[in-house]
Amino acid sequence: MSEQDQNQAPEASQEQVEDKRLRKIRSFVKREGRLTKRQEKALTEFWPQMGLDHQANNYSLAEVFGREAKTVLEIGFGMGASLVEMATAAPETNFIGIEVHRPGVGACMADAVEAGITNLRVFEHDAVEILNDSIPDNSLDTVQLFFPDPWHKARHHKRRIVQLEFVEVLRKKLKIGGVFHMATDWENYAEHMLEVMQAAPGYSNTSETNDYVPRPEWRPLTKFENRGHRLGHGVWDLIFARES
Ligand SMILES: C[S@@+](CC[C@H](N)C(=O)[O-])C[C@H]1O[C@@H](n2cnc3c(N)ncnc32)[C@H](O)[C@@H]1O
Repeated sequence: MSEQDQNQAPEASQEQVEDKRLRKIRSFVKREGRLTKRQEKALTEFWPQMGLDHQANNYSLAEVFGREAKTVLEIGFGMGASLVEMATAAPETNFIGIEVHRPGVGACMADAVEAGITNLRVFEHDAVEILNDSIPDNSLDTVQLFFPDPWHKARHHKRRIVQLEFVEVLRKKLKIGGVFHMATDWENYAEHMLEVMQAAPGYSNTSETNDYVPRPEWRPLTKFENRGHRLGHGVWDLIFARES
């Protein structure tokens, strides 16, 4: 993520100011990274079988996967290595990944094809819009959000994806008893997640201590978690269940 200052330049016209005000707050800055040949090939060749487009109506997950099965949805999978690892380890489960970074989507698809898995579908789109528009209510067993962009500066905290309104939408997409699993290596974001989730109606914290849970050993190490380790950061996992 870029740490660029989002402040309006002093010489901006009134029109630009209004345009900026109308623009939605997003949790990401789209980086136009160059695609490798492998990523490009995967995106072109395998999109028909593995890619899902943003649409205004809900998908039928049974139709998408050709079966009824537990479904895990991951937001912001980065390059997708840990998502492919999880999908490979659980062929009986359906996995949906959402990521805006095109090279990451290409890399994930290439890895999935190499692993020979058929239980993964991906969106290249804003997860907030996908949840709102294309995912049916009461359909997900797990939503995972691993190492989301922390937006360190206080004036950027509104860009953090974990906000009351967002977790309200997400709760409706979970089945009753389904879980929202978050992990971060940024303590201030962990505290923010806890605060938002405690204020959100209809969730219960699965933590015995009413805050964080021990790192589950089945959660694969992600690229950003690895980076956090190198920087000497701690890791906080939070798992909240949909109660109502
Ligand atoms: C810090 S990276 C972490 C990637 C991966 N989960 C990991 O742990 O290695 C956060 C990722 O979330 C993606 N992202 C942020 N907001 C998103 C959104 N609203 N929809 C989809 N992807 C998003 C970014 O593009 C980025 O790749």
